[in-house]
Amino acid sequence: MGREAEHSLADFYFSDSDDPLCPPEGFVQWAEAGSWAMSMYEPHMLGAVAPRMAIERAGERSDVINLSSYNYLGLATHPEVVEAAQEALRTYGTGACGSPLLSGLSDLHRGLERELAAFLGQEDCILFNSGFAGGMGTLAGVLRKGDVAILDAKTHLCSIDGVKLSRAKLVFFDHNDPDSLDQALTDSEGARRLVVVEGVYSMDGDTADLPKLLPVAEKHGVGVLIDEAHSILVYGAHGRGVVEHYGAEKSIGLQFATFSKAFAGCGGFTVGPRALLHYMRYYINAYGFSCALPPAVVAGLRKALEVATRDNSLRETLWANTRYFREKAQQIGLDLGHGSSQVVPIMVGSDRRRLYELTRTLHRRGLFLAPVDYPSVPEDGLRFRVAITAAHTRADLDRALEILEDTIIRGRVDEAAE
Ligand SMILES: Cc1ncc(COP(=O)(O)O)c(C=O)c1O
Repeated sequence: MGREAEHSLADFYFSDSDDPLCPPEGFVQWAEAGSWAMSMYEPHMLGAVAPRMAIERAGERSDVINLSSYNYLGLATHPEVVEAAQEALRTYGTGACGSPLLSGLSDLHRGLERELAAFLGQEDCILFNSGFAGGMGTLAGVLRKGDVAILDAKTHLCSIDGVKLSRAKLVFFDHNDPDSLDQALTDSEGARRLVVVEGVYSMDGDTADLPKLLPVAEKHGVGVLIDEAHSILVYGAHGRGVVEHYGAEKSIGLQFATFSKAFAGCGGFTVGPRALLHYMRYYINAYGFSCALPPAVVAGLRKALEVATRDNSLRETLWANTRYFREKAQQIGLDLGHGSSQVVPIMVGSDRRRLYELTRTLHRRGLFLAPVDYPSVPEDGLRFRVAITAAHTRADLDRALEILEDTIIRGRVDEAAE
């Protein structure tokens, strides 16, 4: 990666080709010249998601400590969860084979809807077969042309795409800034509006500042939707998310979360008032026109919910691991940004070539972290993103910290020769 480090994916969105079925010429050349760096993406995981596992990248196999998977409570391989999914697979077969509206919902799906609504103290729940589609669909389901969606500037792409799909006006307020939110709400007076925030911001690992933001939304009489993808089962005394953590249950209109993180499955869900969700079921195309979750996945999710909520032990281990890792990482001089959650960014500056050289070195030395590059994050905020889990042992975390100190702090990095 030489001059190609001067470019990023942001440079190839618009195409110079006459045919939409031909990728831009510049992209093809750039990707070829930097192929060693691009090979850091889509590594093959050789086995179940676990704290220690093997990965293969560009034909190179590495035994690694995995700090990249969102398996926050370690449920991906929990024996009870695996057993529940296996049992449902035997009884219900492989797929739901129909959309939820017509022929896809089993008694397992209905059970999970009921359990999630009860867990979160809400009247109803809609399940989605993808977290991204669920987040996008929830916004597209309630917003219409002429409405204004007011999103925190660090909100995930699924919410942004949902607003675009609805053709509502998309407005951002400065991250976690109540004055900026107040201004956006004042500027949009007269329109139907919705404020959108996230429980834990996925690139920075900080939480929505609900105590400051909610009074502003309330003052303007505008409802709030929260995406708890990274905070459900993790935050709050019972795992009910950042909403529970801040005691904000009464101030949130819709709570959305994904099953791909602490639930260690796949899909997502939205909970809220029954009448609204009844309406949404018919207007979220990603729900009504897409196959329901496979029953075996649903059975695994139900068991995951049970295991994660019958006591607080997994959450306590996760938080003890998070505190341990954050403290030690700061002691060795890593820049962790401003968050305090189990999502821990490690900031590496603006040198894109170094980001990829570091990634390759980390894999070779036995630590699995993925590069987070512009335009996913600002050009001067390139980073790695650590996902701490309850399944990591102190020995896993210590070894990971040694590798990080050796590479990022002491600069022992394999330079790119290709
Ligand atoms: C905040 C947030 N919302 C939604 C999603 C999409 O979820 P999924 O990966 O389950 O499709 C993600 C994915 O990482 C996310 O971070």
